Amino acid sequence: MSDTTGRSHGGRVVLRGIRKSFGSFEALRGIDLDIEAVEFFALLGPSGSGKTTTLRVIAGLEIPDEGTMTVDDVDVTYAPPGERDVAMVFQNYSLYPHMTLEANIGFPLKMDGVAKDRIPGLVREAAATVKIDHLLHRRPGELSGGQQQRCALARAIVRQPKLFLLDEPLSNLDAQLRLETRVELKKLQRSLNVTTVYVTHDQEEAMTIADRMAVFLDGNIAQVGTPEEVFNRPRNVDVAAFIGSPPMNLIEGHLDGRWVSIGDHRFELPRLPQCPAGKIIVGARPGHISLAASGLAATLYLSENLGESMLLNLSVGENLVKVRLPEVREFADNEALYLTFDAEHVHVFDPESGLRIE
Ligand SMILES: Nc1ncnc2c1ncn2[C@@H]1O[C@H](COP(=O)(O)OP(=O)(O)OP(=O)(O)O)[C@@H](O)[C@H]1O
Ligand SMILES: [Mg+2]
Repeated sequence: MSDTTGRSHGGRVVLRGIRKSFGSFEALRGIDLDIEAVEFFALLGPSGSGKTTTLRVIAGLEIPDEGTMTVDDVDVTYAPPGERDVAMVFQNYSLYPHMTLEANIGFPLKMDGVAKDRIPGLVREAAATVKIDHLLHRRPGELSGGQQQRCALARAIVRQPKLFLLDEPLSNLDAQLRLETRVELKKLQRSLNVTTVYVTHDQEEAMTIADRMAVFLDGNIAQVGTPEEVFNRPRNVDVAAFIGSPPMNLIEGHLDGRWVSIGDHRFELPRLPQCPAGKIIVGARPGHISLAASGLAATLYLSENLGESMLLNLSVGENLVKVRLPEVREFADNEALYLTFDAEHVHVFDPESGLRIE
């Protein structure tokens, strides 16, 4: 596919039932994924959940034990990396230390057999896109981490691939540069019109940069959706416990009609459909619980001053509950406090299946 400028569009990637074991350890346990053309798609999950393995399967660096992968409806499950029109940026950049940036960025073109006289122009264009065209004569050792990262990006985009695969590309940058670069990366992806699969364990990064994302937990995909969907309607307690910083409080409670009780505190959930009475898990984000004159009794365990807000760690029976206060104030040690819940934003989960109750 190509548009009026002749530039190729990204491909549509479909994974079905992908399984991959290393020895007796099953790293991927049946991955199904639909990534739309030119979408910016994040693979988010904790360490060891299978993100890199999935990206390597997409790149053709790892052959799955079971399952299939197609790009634009063509089966590429067993196609070698060179036949997939993918460019990958690794966490450690993998630049050639003895080559100049110009040679590093031009290397994939040389490998592809692009005519020699066309290479310098293409290299300069890719380098200019990521603003390192003034550094082309330098070697990687003479660059900052951020500049090396841009060089790795330039080397990936110089070929104008169909799929752009990025494995934690910002993790070696300091916090400030990471924030700046993530904005630029998003802009770059928009202008290139290339399907991008982006691995990160930083959920803020995934939430801000991705059109959609998949949450990986233990070699499975726990949820796929837009960042808003995953944040606002986590499919189960595992996703709820992972997303958000700090994540949602999950507290044992009881449901009767639309009435939730936690200990002897009761409140009504106006939007909940009628469900059978019984035990539930109540989910509430730290910002959706407030202090009040009466409510759920809690004891302050530790207050953290975050500058413009506070994070209170409270004991409620056996549970530790985190509450975000929009202002900063003084508290006494072990102060007795009362909590109320913002009913519009309370989530309810089935304690047996862990699934969200709508
Ligand atoms: N070549 C390998 N040999 C053996 N085990 C492997 C291999 N590659 C990955 N694994 C295991 O498979 C699991 C998934 O690894 P993977 O690299 O996909 O995780 P990840 O989600 O990318 O984690 P991280 O955020 O730490 O990079 C891990 O438990 C890992 O130890
Ligand atoms: Mg990884």
